[in-house]
Amino acid sequence: MKKPKYNVAIVGATGAVGEQMREVLEERKFPVGEMRLLASERSAGQFLEFDGRQHRVSVLNENSFENTDIALFSAGGTVSAKYVPPAVSAGAVVIDNTAHFRMAPDIPLVVPEVNASAISDYKKRRIIANPNCSTIQMVVALKPIHDAARIKRVVVSTYQSVSGAGRQAMEELSQQVAALYNSKVVEKKKFPHQIAFNCIPHIDVFMEDGYTKEEWKMIHETRKILGEPSLAVTATTVRVPVFFSHSESVNVETEKKLTAAEVKSLLRQAPGIIVADAPENNLYPLALDATGKDATYVGRIREDHSVQNGINLWVVADNLRKGAALNAVQIAEILIRDYL
Ligand code: A2P
Repeated sequence: MKKPKYNVAIVGATGAVGEQMREVLEERKFPVGEMRLLASERSAGQFLEFDGRQHRVSVLNENSFENTDIALFSAGGTVSAKYVPPAVSAGAVVIDNTAHFRMAPDIPLVVPEVNASAISDYKKRRIIANPNCSTIQMVVALKPIHDAARIKRVVVSTYQSVSGAGRQAMEELSQQVAALYNSKVVEKKKFPHQIAFNCIPHIDVFMEDGYTKEEWKMIHETRKILGEPSLAVTATTVRVPVFFSHSESVNVETEKKLTAAEVKSLLRQAPGIIVADAPENNLYPLALDATGKDATYVGRIREDHSVQNGINLWVVADNLRKGAALNAVQIAEILIRDYL
């Protein structure tokens, strides 16, 4: 018999994504029974609002998950590595927003608009992985094109907002802008270089081949979600001084020819996408417009004349919502509708 309500835990409740998780659960009227807000000892005793009530933040420990039905993790890979197993042992289903479990073959990596049916594999380990923010918005846009014309190759460059690196990163951008306007010394903690008025082609750590881990995440995760283990994908990921929403330039080569008009029409009918593409009116997706919204916005749709069958796209979405909290809550909604 279905439960009327589900006890939910948010690990990383005080963080940038954790805040959005509370908001999205509330907005979408997720049937929350008990809400457990978990963070580090730094936040002990703090109160946060959920559904019109103040909830005390508890310090995460191995016993935090008794009677929890669904645990949403967004406190970094090390925290997930240590605390997801006790959450699962306590009987919770975990939706993990970190990279820690994403590539495990027995853990589904899910974007509901693309591969919702993979959620059934949660039964193997009671863990579902939420993909990387940049991957999520890209695969939402790629899926309808792949279904219609089979994608052969993807070249993506990202313009990623600082909120993707957490609250401290947002503070760092604000403080650097203020310091520069006041002729003070710019302090760097989260980013390896000044992020204010700059672009940094370095997200996550560098690998031996000269790519960053973020770039490899986009490659591996796109293949796994689309179910195409050898799809040709290459990425350059860049941090830009924008607070919210990631933008991406995506070049797609397909087996079958698609005109720009055909791609627009496909994307207009696709779930989760809003086509914003009227250059004559200066209309194209913008980070500022996508912020706080649920959709993935696609525009600048045009044919790539340098190859036989190529399309260029500009794809923008709120990285904290569709790129993280919203995608996790959409997974939870399907989980309770079809499985729990
Ligand atoms: P806290 O606020 O107590 O440090 P962001 O990505 O915005 O930086 O947020 C990270 C989130 O993960 C915060 O809620 C943070 O809690 C939480 N977090 C970080 N490290 C731990 C830890 N060791 N145990 C529990 N929560 C943690």
